[in-house]
Formats: sequence, structure tokens, C-alpha cells
Amino acid sequence: MALKVSRRGLVPPFIVMDVMRAANARDAAARTPDERCIHLEVGQPGTKAPAVVRAAAAAALESDRLGYTEALGIPELRARIARHYRERYGVTVPEGRIAITAGSSGAFLIGFLAAFEAGDRVALADPGYPAYRNILTALSLDAVGLPADREHRFQPTPALLERAGNLAGLIVASPANPTGSMLRPAELKALVEWCRARGVRLVSDEIYHGITYGETAATALQFGDDAFVINSFSKYYSMTGWRLGWMVVPPDLARSVEVLAQNLFISPPTLAQRAAIAAFDAAAECDANVASYRTNRDLLLARLPEAGFREFASPDGAFYLYADVGHMTNDSEEFCRRMLAEAGVAATPGTDFDPERGRRFVRFSFAGTTADMEEAARRLKAWRR
Ligand SMILES: Cc1ncc(COP(=O)(O)O)c(C=O)c1O
Repeated sequence: MALKVSRRGLVPPFIVMDVMRAANARDAAARTPDERCIHLEVGQPGTKAPAVVRAAAAAALESDRLGYTEALGIPELRARIARHYRERYGVTVPEGRIAITAGSSGAFLIGFLAAFEAGDRVALADPGYPAYRNILTALSLDAVGLPADREHRFQPTPALLERAGNLAGLIVASPANPTGSMLRPAELKALVEWCRARGVRLVSDEIYHGITYGETAATALQFGDDAFVINSFSKYYSMTGWRLGWMVVPPDLARSVEVLAQNLFISPPTLAQRAAIAAFDAAAECDANVASYRTNRDLLLARLPEAGFREFASPDGAFYLYADVGHMTNDSEEFCRRMLAEAGVAATPGTDFDPERGRRFVRFSFAGTTADMEEAARRLKAWRR
């Protein structure tokens, strides 16, 4: 007899991981460096963790037993994050409301479980980070896509929310993945207030804070304490594989978050926590990475039009260009397969972020080296000639 398979486990694949596998296979078969592909598909820094973080990790390996920590993380790190909110945003957050998690991904799991019941409807912008939708689905929540438009920089608006029906939650990200676009402070405030007035729980993904090219990003904490604010050491601090993030928990959910964290994870990774305390002293190194992303962004914005890529979502932050390729294809997955096979450039099809309209978009990540950006622009120009 066939054994039962859970429907909620049948979430769609994270397409970028499939693209990465194909690109890696091509690299493995390459005979010369020229045959290797340029990786513009993955959303992760090409740099190591900051030197002070690596030194702190080395010291902790020798001196610390590295046993479990408290479920919400080591007090020193939680206090350091509270200080970060005071210094960077001028907001006071008691360290008791800060939970350290296994990446922001761990924070989503705990946060969604603490805030929502199975069957609740949670809105999010299309295009958006695919795991939001897939984690919601795996938890038997109903992900409600908001068809965000270019005019509003692909961000949610109160008008879109009004049309979405009854909601329990809203997820926003600023800067966002895949667009890199940002909510202005007044727009974020309007969303916080819209949610508060209707009893809708806001989840603000602030993982790309620090990686901005003009205005600095506002935190939802500037407008109250009822939102979940989620962040991570993965991007600005260049620590993806260390699997460490955090969330600022609304006061009414503090205990359930702690209990869920105890049961689901026992504690976040201890070595990464010990090292991450030093990350806040690495601003010079992290900002130098951001300066290099800016160079990469400007280079691609100048050079990609030569290859026919002309329309981009407003790239205010993060390290992505979301390019409209509607004049070249209506099947971005096939387009990306050909781009990889024929030009040796890996990019992510928009369908990863927006199942329908993503057929006419491609996401380029510019988190790699400037030399790689130059080579990608050269290859794409030659490909499209
Ligand atoms: C918008 C956004 N949120 C969350 C994540 C997950 O990051 P992590 O679990 O490494 O903190 C990513 C990763 O690409 C992302 O782009």
C-alpha cells in the first residue's frame, strides 16, 4: 500500500538552487578558465566573513566548550544587537526581545509559528523571496501574492492590501530580493499603520539593511513594537554559511517564541554566535564590500544595455538587478538555460520570485567580483549580438 505523503511538504523547488547546480556542473566540466561560467545567480557575497569575526571564531574554538546556549542566544550577543539598534536607528529595544536564530530562515519558521494559525492568510509582494511563500505553505498557511507594480518599485501598498481580502499577516522586505528596491520611511510607516489598524501582524525582513546606495533603510521598529523584525548576519556581514540571524520579537509573542525556539532548535549555533559579536566592529570591512557592490551595480547598469537589458527595477539596495526581458522572451527559464549554455553566464529566472509575471524577468546578482561583472557584460554583449 502506498504510504502517505504530506501535501504541505510538496513545496516548489527554489529554482536558483537548480540553476546553481547546472552552473557548477558546467564548471566541473570546464577545461580552461574561459569555459567556466560567471555566477550571477546566487545571492551571496563572494567575500569571507570579516577578519575580526574569523579571529573571534578561532579564539572561541580554543577557549570555549561550545555547548548549547540559551534558546534565544548568548546574552552578550543579544545585548550587542540591542546596542546596534540604539546606535544605527536611535531605537531602544530591550535585549529580552531579541532572539538569535539559525539564519533569518530559522526566524521565519519560529515567527510564523508564533504569529499565525494554520489556514491564516498572509500577504507578500510578487515578486518576492520565494522561501516566504514556501515556508508559509509548508506550515499550512495561505500565501496571498500582491501583484506589486513597477510604479511602486514592486513593493506592497495599502491599495493592494485593500484588495487582498481578510489577512492575518503581511511580509515586507526593504531592500527587497529580487528587485533591490526599497520602501521609503513614510511608505513603511503607512504599512505599519495599515496593519496595526486592522490587526494584521507585520513581518519586516531587514536582511539587506546596510547594503544601500542612497537613502539608508528604515526599520519597522521606528514605528512601534508590534511587528516582527527579522535580520541576519548573512548579507551585510558576509556570513551566509555561518547560519546566524536574529529577530526582534513583539512583546506579546516573546514567551511563545522562546518556547518554540527551545523545542525546534534547542539553541542557535554556538560558534557562530561567539564570532558574530565581533561583526559589529567590522563596519569598515563590511562597508568596503558595499562600495564594491556599488561599483558592480554601476558597471552593470552602464554595460548591460549594450546587451539589450534596459529596464530594471529601482536598484536602491541589496545586490540584485531585476531586469525586464519581455522584449526578448516570455519564458525566462528557457532564456536562462540558454544564457548559461551559450554565453556561460548564470542568472536566475524571474519565475523563482513571481510564478506568473516572472516569465518576463531575470535576476542578476552583483555580489561577486568587479572582474566577473566586466566579463559577464562582455559575454552577454557578444551573446546578444
Ligand atoms: C530577502 C531574504 N530573506 C531571507 C534570506 C535568507 O537568509 P539567511 O537564512 O541566510 O539569513 C534571503 C537569502 O537570500 C533573502 O534574500
